[in-house]
Amino acid sequence: MTVTDTAELSNENLRARLAQELTAARARTALLTESVDDADLAAQHSPLMSPLVWDLAHIGNQEELWLVRDVGGREPVRSDIDSLYDAFQHPRRSRPTLPLLDPAQSRQYVQQVRTKALDVLDQAVLQGDPLIERGFVFAMIAQHEQQHCETMLATHQLRSGPPVLSSAPPPAAAPVVADEVIVPAGEFEMGTSTHPWALDNERQAHRASTGTYAIDRYPTTNGEYLEFIADDGYGREELWSAEGWRHHTKAGLTAPQFWEQDASGWYRTEFGRVVPIDPAQPVVHVCYYEAQAYARWRGKRLPTEIEWEKAARFDPGSNTSRAYPWGHDEPDATRANLGQRHLAPAPIGAYPGGASPLGVHQLIGDVWEWTSSDFVPYSGFRAYPYDEYSLVFFGSDYKVLRGGSFATDPVVARSTFRNWDYPIRRQIFSGFRLARDL
Ligand code: AVJ
Ligand code: FE
Repeated sequence: MTVTDTAELSNENLRARLAQELTAARARTALLTESVDDADLAAQHSPLMSPLVWDLAHIGNQEELWLVRDVGGREPVRSDIDSLYDAFQHPRRSRPTLPLLDPAQSRQYVQQVRTKALDVLDQAVLQGDPLIERGFVFAMIAQHEQQHCETMLATHQLRSGPPVLSSAPPPAAAPVVADEVIVPAGEFEMGTSTHPWALDNERQAHRASTGTYAIDRYPTTNGEYLEFIADDGYGREELWSAEGWRHHTKAGLTAPQFWEQDASGWYRTEFGRVVPIDPAQPVVHVCYYEAQAYARWRGKRLPTEIEWEKAARFDPGSNTSRAYPWGHDEPDATRANLGQRHLAPAPIGAYPGGASPLGVHQLIGDVWEWTSSDFVPYSGFRAYPYDEYSLVFFGSDYKVLRGGSFATDPVVARSTFRNWDYPIRRQIFSGFRLARDL
């Protein structure tokens, strides 16, 4: 079944599906928080990240606020810790100094909240109020937990010490030609008004228009990026924007994050393991400014957010937009590299079954793709159900990323989903693909 079909699901089946999403998110949280010891859980591995134990109790606190107290109308599980786990009261770098719940208390807290939340779900009639219509707020909380699971995986990538996570390698692919796809000028439907679990910033569906442009069939690979490094891409100021060059100089950028070089060449660390650079894998852990400089070096540019979404969703045959590049069915292992099933991007060409009608591949999964667009609201935007999800971030400080990474769960990775970050960030699983005017 597809999520957009939930209108046809009985209340009982919809509740079962939502319980399944909550349970899947918790299994992922457990894996990420039980694979390290308590000291590691409470440690801060980077000033950019929270201690994992903060993410854990914050996940529980959001669930308590929305599902237990708001929808359920139940008594608080803990009324004394809301401010500790309010992301807006405490910046990430200050979180280790807070009187946080310890690992055992945090685990007990999230479990108590979950028991009550599932009880609330069990009794819910999922229609009427927009908050519960087709299970919206339950899905919002499952998506919130999965988004923190991606953040926690980024924390794992930043921690030092022996590896604690493992996965099957991503699927192999026969070599492919990294060519371009031509997208015809015209309008298409962007955003969504019908996906029951879409978040506020993806709404509403509206017409958007582009000129004719070319977009790369695949994300930019390590092999291609190595050519930029070899051609002194990091040393040539003219390739960089003014802010990009300032950041490059201040941060001392010489290669993607987690890359190192010795006499035999470049290698990188991946969740505590030293691995060779696979030339066919999409490049990951680059900031917006690196993507921008690479694009200029190639004589191309990053796509706008509109161009990205059109390449991903637009079906010229029917003049409609799809929920996913491949259609309306939910992602599975043949369509996209998602859900931390593999802990690396897959080589280009590995997901022919995930191509869009225009023939663009690997838009969903593998790496988040930087776009040239600022994170701004669609016309008619209404913050829902809280201003701090999207509204407070709109403006020119953040760039939009699209498509999800290997670390993103399918419950999040819709082709209308919008992510955003500062242009200097690269601890996220960020890569890019190029476009150009025609
Ligand atoms: C959408 C990934 C930018 O992590 O800041 C988590 C998601 N919002 N808790 C973030 C989010 C509230 C958000 N991003
Ligand atoms: Fe959060």
